Amino acid sequence: MTHIKRIAVLTSGGDAPGMNAAIRSVVRRATQFDWEVFGVENGYRGLIDGNFTRLGMRDVGNIIQLGGTVLGSARAPEFKNIEGQQEGIRRLHQQGIDALVVIGGNGSQTGAYALGTHGFPVVGVASTIDNDLYGSEITIGVDTALNVALESIDRLRTTASSHHRAFIVEVMGRDCGYLGMMAGLAGGALAVQIPEMEMTPEAITNLLVEAYERGKKQSIIVVAEGCQHDVDELAAYYKEHRAEIGFPLRVTRLGHVQRGGVPTAADRLLATRLAAGAVDALQRGESGVLCGLHNNQITLTPYDIVVNNKKTLDLSLLELARDLAM
Ligand code: ADP
Ligand code: F6P
Repeated sequence: MTHIKRIAVLTSGGDAPGMNAAIRSVVRRATQFDWEVFGVENGYRGLIDGNFTRLGMRDVGNIIQLGGTVLGSARAPEFKNIEGQQEGIRRLHQQGIDALVVIGGNGSQTGAYALGTHGFPVVGVASTIDNDLYGSEITIGVDTALNVALESIDRLRTTASSHHRAFIVEVMGRDCGYLGMMAGLAGGALAVQIPEMEMTPEAITNLLVEAYERGKKQSIIVVAEGCQHDVDELAAYYKEHRAEIGFPLRVTRLGHVQRGGVPTAADRLLATRLAAGAVDALQRGESGVLCGLHNNQITLTPYDIVVNNKKTLDLSLLELARDLAM
């Protein structure tokens, strides 16, 4: 049991489709416990500035289906310093807040861990399209981003077929290849380039040459944004060797389109479950943990484990994508 009467919730880092479903779930679960909830605007920046707004159950009506975050988000480098963190805690105390729920990715949860080390109760909700956060097999926003990337690849494939072209498609993921690997596998790409296992531009070009010689009418190459041999290098290499490669080539960077729009059912469900799980943890008196999902079960992972471990990719899926590309 707990002494909590008032909590705050913030969204931080890159926004992710499903964050609003998570905010709604936090507010309504806490309301069931007769707690007051305050939303913090714009992540840790709003925390440092003391931008709190009271959120009642009606304030989070009609947002479950919206992408982005109604609270706003920010990259706030000033929160990486101890002074910023202490100011955040001072603001929380000033507002009479007993505990904080942090909805965000790797960096945001590192910030939450820092608050915990200063003695403030925090529970995290795993949310980033990159799926690079240790402590949850899948994070809020990944499913939507993957589906957006896939729809784009499908659309590019139709025009590629008409013109007998190859397309390089760049997907997001910061330095993690999860989105690239899954979009490549589900999109039937000829080549998948991710930071965890890169191919040289020459190897990718050879795949294109062979595909053309086999009579393939179009080809898709998925490249994750964090690669050393990135889209620009691949396109430059292609230009130099254009004469040897049958396919004309076009480049498409999907960029922030992957973070926008309506969250999928999977993301709304995940967000709703994880956020309620975070509030339930606080109600049981637990904090200093990240609420995530493993084997479809809600789990709580201590923050020191979350921040000191790196999530690994199942590279057998990359091999499968490469094996099936013929
Ligand atoms: P994400 O949470 O999506 O990974 P960022 O890495 O940009 O996004 O982190 C979001 C915010 O979390 C940062 O702008 C900063 O306010 C805070 N943050 C990131 N890293 C740290 C850190 N090492 N210590 C404290 N706060 C951090
Ligand atoms: O972390 C989510 C993400 O979309 C990454 O995939 C990408 O590298 C980064 O954010 C882009 O950041 P910004 O929105 O600040 O340009």
